Amino acid sequence: MSGAPVDATNSPAWGRLTSLAEGFAPDLRRWFDEDPGRADRLTFSAADLHVDLSKGLIDGEVLPALLELADQVGLADRRDAMFRGEHINVTEDRAVLHTALRLPPDARLQVDGQDVAAEVHEVLRRVYEFADRVRSGAWTGVTGKRIRTVVNIGIGGSDLGPVMAYEALRPYRQAGLECRFISNIDPTDAATKLAGLDPATTLFIVSSKTFGTLETLTNARLCKAWLLDGLADGDPHLDQQSAVARHFVAVSTALDKVADFGIDPQNAFGFWDWVGGRYSVDSAIGTSLVVAIGPEAFSDLLAGMHAMDEHFRTTPLDRNVPVLMGLLNVWYANFLGAQTHAVLPYSQLLHRFPAYLQQLTMESNGKGVRWDGTPVTTDTGEVFWGEPGTNGQHAFYQLIHQGTRLVPADFIAFAEPAYPLRDGTTDVHELFLANFFAQTQALAFGKTADEVRAEGTAEAIVPARVFTGNRPTASIMAPRLTPSVLGQLIALYEHITFTQGVVWGIDSFDQWGVELGKQLAQQLSPAVSGDTEVAARQDPSTRALIAYYRRHRS
Ligand code: F6P
Repeated sequence: MSGAPVDATNSPAWGRLTSLAEGFAPDLRRWFDEDPGRADRLTFSAADLHVDLSKGLIDGEVLPALLELADQVGLADRRDAMFRGEHINVTEDRAVLHTALRLPPDARLQVDGQDVAAEVHEVLRRVYEFADRVRSGAWTGVTGKRIRTVVNIGIGGSDLGPVMAYEALRPYRQAGLECRFISNIDPTDAATKLAGLDPATTLFIVSSKTFGTLETLTNARLCKAWLLDGLADGDPHLDQQSAVARHFVAVSTALDKVADFGIDPQNAFGFWDWVGGRYSVDSAIGTSLVVAIGPEAFSDLLAGMHAMDEHFRTTPLDRNVPVLMGLLNVWYANFLGAQTHAVLPYSQLLHRFPAYLQQLTMESNGKGVRWDGTPVTTDTGEVFWGEPGTNGQHAFYQLIHQGTRLVPADFIAFAEPAYPLRDGTTDVHELFLANFFAQTQALAFGKTADEVRAEGTAEAIVPARVFTGNRPTASIMAPRLTPSVLGQLIALYEHITFTQGVVWGIDSFDQWGVELGKQLAQQLSPAVSGDTEVAARQDPSTRALIAYYRRHRS
C-alpha cells in the first residue's frame, strides 16, 4: 500500500476537472431556481451532523468528476489500509491508527503482532481511574490537600486538542476543578498561568509524545522548580521526591525519558508511535480533559469519533461527508484558485477549534513532495483559519463577501444553546443563528446592482454595494454541542484532511518541516547568550538581530 502514489494531475478525472474549471461560471441563484431539489440532494447526514453542501460551487458535472478523481487516486483502498494499520506513514515507516483510539471496548485489532485495541483500553482504564481519583479528592497533593488546578504542559498536538476540547465542553466540566495549559516557551506563558495558584493544590500533567520537546521540557522544569520552591516555603524538610510524585504525572510514548525527568513511571500514561501528535487528543494526551469532564463524557467523545470513523469507512463515497468535503476543498484549491479556507463556528465554545484545525490540516497537508519523494505537481494544503461568528463578521467577513479572493468557508452551529439567555422577549441564540443563516445566504446569493438601485442607492456608490454572491460555504449543524458531537467534528476534519492528502499523494502524517527551525534554535542559542564565535558564524541579518537583542537586553 505504500507503493508509488498516483499522480492525480495525470489522471483522466483531473483533465476533466481542468476543462470544467475553464470558463466555470457558478450561478447559485440559477442553480437553486432551476433545481428545486438541490438543497435536499446536496444535504447529507454523518452520525449526528447535518451537512448542507448545496451552497458549494458544484454542479451536476463537477461532483461526478470529483468522485471519479477519488476513484482514480485509490482513495477507498488507502482509507482501508489506514484502518487496517498498514504503514501508510511512509517517511516514518509507521501505521496511522488514531482510529484505533476510539474503538469500542469489545473490538479487536491486530497490528504488527499486537492487539492494539486491548492496549488502548488498558491505558484508558488507567487514565479513567486516575481522573476519578483527582475528581473525587482521593488523589491529594503532598500536604494532603485536594487538587484544585490541573496544569497541562505540552505544545502542538499535546496542547491544542486538550485546550480546544476543554473550552468546547465547558458545560461538562466539574465545578471546583480548573485546568490551565502552558505551551509557549515564552516565559510569560508559565508566569501568567502559574500566577495565583497554590502549589499544594496544583497537579501538573507533562504531555509530550516524544518527551524531547524543548518547550515542554523547559516549562516542566520551570513548573517543578515553582512547585518545590512553593512547597518548601511551608515545609523546609519537604521530601522533594514525594512532592514530585504527588504533583507530576506524564503522558508520553517515551516512558524511559519520563523516568529520567524524575516522574514516577507509575504516574505515567503511555501511547504509541502510530498516533500522530495532532491526532492524539483522544489518547492519554487528553488526560487533562478527562479530569475536567470525567470518564463518562470522554467516552462519549470517543464514541462520537468512532461513529464518524464508521461513516467514513463504510458509506459510499457519493454520500460520504468527509470524502465530499475533502474533494470540494480540492476543487476549490486546485481548480478555482482558493488559497485559504475559513472555519467559522457559530458557537463561542468552539473558539479554539480553528486554531486546533490549523495544526491538523496544515501540519498534515503542508507538503511539497509526495510520499515517494517526488515533487507534487499542484498546490497542496490550504491555509486554514477562522474565528467564531459573529466576531468574525465585524472583522474579516468584508473580504470574504466582496474581496477579490475566493475563500471557501465552513459554518458550524448547534440548535440548542449551551447557555439559553433572553434579551427581553428575544431568545439571543435565535438572533445568533439568524446571523449564521444570513451570512451563508448573502455569500451564496449576493445582491445585484438592480437590487441595490431599487433601495434608492445613489448610482455612484452602487458598485461598492453590490455583492457578487457565489462564494461557497458548507453548513454543518447538530442538535447540540455534546462530547459526542465534538468527537464527530474532530474526526470529520481528520478524514477531510486524509482525503485531500490522498488526492495529492502526500504523507499527511509526518512533519519534517518543523525540524530545521528546531535544530537552528539549538545551534543559535549560545549566540543569543553572548557566545561571539557562534554569533560570528551566522548570516549578516541574523547576526545583526542578535546584536540588537544583546544591546537592548538589560
Ligand atoms: O513540532 C511539531 C510537533 O512535533 C508536533 O507534531 C507535535 O504535536 C508537537 O511538536 C509536540 O510534540 P511532543 O508531543 O512530542 O512534545
